[in-house]
Amino acid sequence: MKIENLVKIILLILAFTINKNAMAQSKYESQIDALLAKMTLEEKVGQMNQYNGFWDVTGPLPENGDASLKYEHLKKGWVGSMLNVHGVEQVRELQKLVVEESRLGIPLLFGFDVIHGYKVQAPIPLAESASWDLDAIQKSASIAADEASAVGLNWTFAPMVDISRDARWGRVMEGGGEDPFLGSKIAEARIKGFQGTDLSAPNTIAACAKHFAAYGFAEAGKDYNTVDIGTNTLYNMVLPPFKAAVNADVKTFMNAFNIINGVPATGNSMLLQTILKEKWNFNGFVVSDWDSIGELAAHGFATDLENAAQLAVNAGSDMDMQATAYIKHLTNLVKLGKVDEAKIDDAVKRILRVKFELGLFDDPFKYCNPEREKTSLNHKDHHQGVLEMAKKSIVLLKNENNLLPLSKQQKNIVVIGDLADDKNSPLGSWRLASDDNTAISVLEGFNAYSTDYTFVQGPKVFDDNSDFLHHVTINSTDKTGISEAVEAAKNAEIVVMVLGEHGFMSGEGRSRTKLDLPGLQPELLKAVYEVNKNIVLVLMNGRPLTLTWEDEHIPAIVEAWQLGSQSGNAIAQVVFGDYNPSGKLPMSFPRSVGQLPLYYNHYSTGRPDKKPIVFWTHYADEKNSPVYPFGHGLSYTTFEYNDLSVKVGDSDVVDVTVTVTNTGNVAGEEVIQLYLRDHVASVVRPVKELKGFKKIMLEPKNSETLTFTLSTEELGFYNQDYNLVVEPGQFTVMVGGCSTNGLTKSFKIK
Ligand code: BGC
Repeated sequence: MKIENLVKIILLILAFTINKNAMAQSKYESQIDALLAKMTLEEKVGQMNQYNGFWDVTGPLPENGDASLKYEHLKKGWVGSMLNVHGVEQVRELQKLVVEESRLGIPLLFGFDVIHGYKVQAPIPLAESASWDLDAIQKSASIAADEASAVGLNWTFAPMVDISRDARWGRVMEGGGEDPFLGSKIAEARIKGFQGTDLSAPNTIAACAKHFAAYGFAEAGKDYNTVDIGTNTLYNMVLPPFKAAVNADVKTFMNAFNIINGVPATGNSMLLQTILKEKWNFNGFVVSDWDSIGELAAHGFATDLENAAQLAVNAGSDMDMQATAYIKHLTNLVKLGKVDEAKIDDAVKRILRVKFELGLFDDPFKYCNPEREKTSLNHKDHHQGVLEMAKKSIVLLKNENNLLPLSKQQKNIVVIGDLADDKNSPLGSWRLASDDNTAISVLEGFNAYSTDYTFVQGPKVFDDNSDFLHHVTINSTDKTGISEAVEAAKNAEIVVMVLGEHGFMSGEGRSRTKLDLPGLQPELLKAVYEVNKNIVLVLMNGRPLTLTWEDEHIPAIVEAWQLGSQSGNAIAQVVFGDYNPSGKLPMSFPRSVGQLPLYYNHYSTGRPDKKPIVFWTHYADEKNSPVYPFGHGLSYTTFEYNDLSVKVGDSDVVDVTVTVTNTGNVAGEEVIQLYLRDHVASVVRPVKELKGFKKIMLEPKNSETLTFTLSTEELGFYNQDYNLVVEPGQFTVMVGGCSTNGLTKSFKIK
């Protein structure tokens, strides 16, 4: 090992030790210890028990969800947290019961899936990630926290920081996409947004990094499926956003449902104990996923619920969400000597720490102000905030001959598509507290710009009664409406087609094997194209789709995801040019499902180069490349990159400088992306990896020179011993507006 590397490792160990000491001296430790000393074993176990409320359900209904038993347990102080209880009145009722009637009156945590908003919905997280705008993402999470805290909640089960390379997996809509660097920055921004700078403030809530770990690597993109990955992928792709979450002081973690290399994540002491709690020194707590402790038996890891409780707690899962494994069995397991009481004490201290930090012991009703509940929900500033976020989330995929933006005087527009007047689907999945049909539809957005448009629905593709608990019914047979749409399109000057997935086609339990436009939409699009080629395709979807035909034929394509409450306004502002789009894809869009998993930061393989014979890394029937790569996104202006220079300084700090010019005629924002290749390493490195990005606004003909500083964090990687190392050798840096092209320069680290 090089001397410098040895020094770095020693420094890391030192930093780790200092950090650990700092944490042990947290200002609540003596209060936590004093409280713990008063608690009976049953009361301690009670803190580790989380029940679902009496109203919403976000998983399979438990057989033992008996309401009166829950009330009994609440009164005894045998419940540490409730999920899916929200609204000041309900929260106050249960908090009062516990605080006034249980022996020690330890307040409850109230957790809820505030994934992209509470009442006002921001874009789905994948869409927000397309903004690459960390301040905007942080602001969006703070809006969500403001509303959530106003209805009694003090804990969100977000952000989901699972990296995923497989668009078949429905939960890609909840995350930051395929890249660990971007994913880490977004994780950090969301946590800061939820938790603010003062967790005890009345408008901030505890965040939860989930799902630990590797849930996004479910085989074949099938939800809850097996995960089998090597340490290189685990350390360098999966773990970085979780590590970033700990660095951002996230208060809680959530287990994942999956097994990872044969061991369920919920019973995985290597993940929970060794990495999270010991190596990263995380001092918050780990909540299981919904019944994931109970599911240890279904996995074939535990014999029964009792054994599951034992395995989960010993592995480091601190709170049991809804499996009732802990409340039923932990006390006895301690008495039998199968679980050490010190393990219980550690879990309880972690849970109490978060309660103290939230300020619940000072005022358990601090989030229960009915006045605030009235004024915060649907506040106009929240709508303004999510509108800004929605505009930033839009990605202009294609714009041949500058068909977009449309002139505000544009005559004779025909808008086609079931989704164009849909006020529900754009709210997206995981919007449990939003009111149905409250999104601004595309038609409503267009009304502010043009009276000269007609709307023709075309075939009804999606069932209006679609909900969070069932699959969306899709019409693939009844073609009524296609001919009317074609007739209308014949005489139009511009056809705007609004197509995509229904908002409830992505999210949990919603994996797909086909990623084309569902139902009759491809047929409708092709039929319209036959009579009018001036098509602007506005897409609404919760994951990457296979848009090969669309990219070959349709001149203008706008990726509008599910943009939340202000969806239609954001889309209209982009289409009519009041907002210049600047989003960049956080996931690759494949040509076909057969390419999946598909990701830009793949390895070289031993046979990367095209050969005249078949023996190289490729498909017989498809290109290797995606239709739209990671980082892709156009603007109504153009940017030019010049003067890339690299300066390697002492102690492996590298400065990369580049000048970017707006060469078009309108002001615009650009995301400058820096990718790195480490050519030879003891663990092979991807052909490129994002290691820096900056988003800037440039007026026409203006330039800006930017410098990126790369150090160990960016130049290094985790080796087989899970140490962050920088190895000497040749690197290439690429800087540009997309993962597929940019200026390049090579340099050496000695
Ligand atoms: C999901 C979690 C969610 C939990 C509580 C589970 O089904 O996997 O992400 O936080 O339910 O609603």
